[in-house]
Amino acid sequence: MFNVNLVTRDGASIEFEADSTDTLLDAAAKANIFLPAVCREGGCGTCRVTRKAGIVSIGPYSKSALTDADRAAGDILLCRSKAYSDLQLSAPFDRAAVGFAPVPERGARVIDIAPAGAGAIRLALQYEDDPTHGRAAEFIPGQFMELKLPATSIARAYSLANTPNWDGTLEFLIRQHPQGAFSGYLRDSAKIGDLLLVKGPQGSFTADEASPSPRWFVAGGTGVAPMLSMLRQMVEFGMTQEARLIFGVNTEDELFATDAVKELSRSLPRLNVTLCVWQPGPNWTGFAGTPAEALAAALADGGARPDIYVCGPPALIEATEAIALAGSVSHDRIFSEQFSPA
Ligand code: FES
Repeated sequence: MFNVNLVTRDGASIEFEADSTDTLLDAAAKANIFLPAVCREGGCGTCRVTRKAGIVSIGPYSKSALTDADRAAGDILLCRSKAYSDLQLSAPFDRAAVGFAPVPERGARVIDIAPAGAGAIRLALQYEDDPTHGRAAEFIPGQFMELKLPATSIARAYSLANTPNWDGTLEFLIRQHPQGAFSGYLRDSAKIGDLLLVKGPQGSFTADEASPSPRWFVAGGTGVAPMLSMLRQMVEFGMTQEARLIFGVNTEDELFATDAVKELSRSLPRLNVTLCVWQPGPNWTGFAGTPAEALAAALADGGARPDIYVCGPPALIEATEAIALAGSVSHDRIFSEQFSPA
């Protein structure tokens, strides 16, 4: 057995034992340490950490979960790596994102469902009273929940758009995929009062509260959900940090959450918002192009290098990382969350 030492972003030290038979993710779970993970098969990048010392073998993975630049910088995927020596790892998430008990699963009922632009749906749920967990919705802004349709195997992970609260309300912005099973449920049969199973909170895509740098959020489509959650928490906490939201969609009719964004702009005087449309009509007055292109323009304006949080499809994440690195943002100040499949 080898000793694995993982230091979280906020400096906590977590130790567990591993050998070359289990992945690091499974070895940690055997010690009742539940590290952030979604796909468990090298596809989503949620379990990415940096190897500071030691030897691992890495199984097959998707380049969108671990780019060549990530790998060159020492990053590995916990769900694909096995230990071949003692290991020193550094994680891009705080200790609060690590579970020390299995992730809870609770019932929640649909309380609102409505279109969000041409390609997405806003879904609001409310937890049922739970003998162990009560009713409160406790999570860290930026985290996601796995929503499961009862009596089926259909489960999908979606980021929360609201903030933790006592009345147990959960808000999601869900992209509609024409062939998606969960999308099909939302489109054809979802109704107020439906009971869903909610497994979470999960995920490590959370704001680095200790960092004094400006926070720039780069979102594609419903990737704006975790950004709304983090920005709304900045409002609730009275934070005055400089922030920027770069939010993009393909066409103007896909735009949504604009009222929420306006409300945030009113409440956060140091928030700069850029709405981007990739293929705009003639009357569009915002940025014409992708969020990554808007980011390149903003970085070229100079100023303090920001922390960059990016959420959206793999192509947006790759482009954003490349532009941020070229703009002198260091690798460890770029935090990403990739869309999971439909
Ligand atoms: S959980 Fe490891 S890449 Fe998805």
